[in-house]
Amino acid sequence: MSSSPELATAEEIHAHLVEQLNGALRRPGVWGNELTLRLLIDHLLTVEREPDGLDLVRQEMERRNAWSARGVTGAVIDRLPHPHVVDHPAMASVYAELANDRGWLHPDRTLDADRFTDLRESAAAWAAYDRTLQEVTDAFGTPSVLFGPTSPVHGKTLGYLTDDPAEPMVFFHIGQRLDLGTETTGSDDHDPLVLIAVRHGGMPLPDALTYTPQGRRRLQQAADKPVQTADPAQVNDYDGFAEAYSAETENSLVNAYYERPAMLALAGDVAGRRILDAGCGTGPLTAALRDRGADVTGIDASTGMLALARQRLGDDAPLHVVDLRDPLPFADGAFDDVVASLVLHYLEDWGPTLTEIRRVLRPGGRLIASVDHPFVAYTISDPRPDYLATTSYSFDWLLSGRLVPMKFWRKPLHTMTDAFTAAGFRISTISEPQPDPAARDLFPDAFQDLSTRPAFLFFVLEASSKASGADDQPNDDPGAK
Ligand SMILES: C[S@@+](CC[C@H](N)C(=O)[O-])C[C@H]1O[C@@H](n2cnc3c(N)ncnc32)[C@H](O)[C@@H]1O
Repeated sequence: MSSSPELATAEEIHAHLVEQLNGALRRPGVWGNELTLRLLIDHLLTVEREPDGLDLVRQEMERRNAWSARGVTGAVIDRLPHPHVVDHPAMASVYAELANDRGWLHPDRTLDADRFTDLRESAAAWAAYDRTLQEVTDAFGTPSVLFGPTSPVHGKTLGYLTDDPAEPMVFFHIGQRLDLGTETTGSDDHDPLVLIAVRHGGMPLPDALTYTPQGRRRLQQAADKPVQTADPAQVNDYDGFAEAYSAETENSLVNAYYERPAMLALAGDVAGRRILDAGCGTGPLTAALRDRGADVTGIDASTGMLALARQRLGDDAPLHVVDLRDPLPFADGAFDDVVASLVLHYLEDWGPTLTEIRRVLRPGGRLIASVDHPFVAYTISDPRPDYLATTSYSFDWLLSGRLVPMKFWRKPLHTMTDAFTAAGFRISTISEPQPDPAARDLFPDAFQDLSTRPAFLFFVLEASSKASGADDQPNDDPGAK
């Protein structure tokens, strides 16, 4: 009768699984791709006495918005289309974040804190141009972890990290060059491998991704659509993407746990106040103000956005199609407050709009506004514009898998404050708030990121007793225009 072999200890099994996981993350194609990663992680969690490992993996990936009917691979293919070249390494890089969080990832090297901070802060702006693989490693050094084959023709992902597992990783997704005669800044236009997108770990897809021009073309090809960015008629097409915008922003960290709560906190007790929501979009702030007892009117230039606001707010909500560059269809002093949430940065000249907003406010009434923080708009532009000038900047939002071209206006801070005072407002508050602490557990890494960088700037302005230019523009009609 043969005796039973001596079994490995739990520590030995754990070490073996960690070693296998590191191999499978680096060469997912050789190891059997996503299923292997999931099973290895499930085994590791079992050894660590965590039950329901596969459920935990799915929940982790859902939290990152990186889950689909085909697992992480499916979610990644949708965002980084180029099957069999980019997808497996990119998929593995998402699992590597989980491995890093759990202390299982064994990097080949780590970056010191300062170097990593530089990389994390510069990577997205740097990716505004097409870059070769060689340029990536020239700029940022050899990766901490290389996901995918070392061959010079196969797609791969380069991951960078520090010794601190709390620091989200940064990834460079590399794929084969599309033969489109793109501009690169680099010396070697014949390098077959180019950067497709930079991904900031810890953030949910798609916000985590910044695409190069090559990456954007790839997405467009996959969607079988022409590149849209050159068509000004399509820029800021809120009618066209109203549903997708609403879906992406309804519960997002930036909108639901940062911008809206900040606006509501600045508004304070609004019960019984007559409020105009200028640029109300689909009406999430309108609804929140109304829930707090305010009497709210919404205006927006987009009929598509207003149609969704109508569904949200019901038939009796006063909603009007109004372009904020035009005179407002309200009587002087009709409102106690105007809220303008993330809309003023669509306007090149704030003067006429602010004058009209001042006119429809009663003396002592408030304008509460949020805009893109001028430092963000300045630092993401490459090359950097003249900070002191008003300049436009453009980029594409990825909404529900579709790229939509956007154009905004950036102003230096003093131009904003000058415009407010010229229109007859007194600045009562300039605020750079923190996100709602309730989001810390929901979006741990993105929360940390948003808590430590500029995103939006908030103002509370008080309407002085006499509107600027009121003598020049009398308004005798107390009714709607
Ligand atoms: C980023 S969305 C914000 C919507 C809403 N305030 C919110 O927080 O959900 C910007 C909104 O401004 C509107 N908008 C842009 N330019 C406008 C203009 N010139 N006049 C009126 N609305 C405008 C868009 O249609 C869109 O609904």
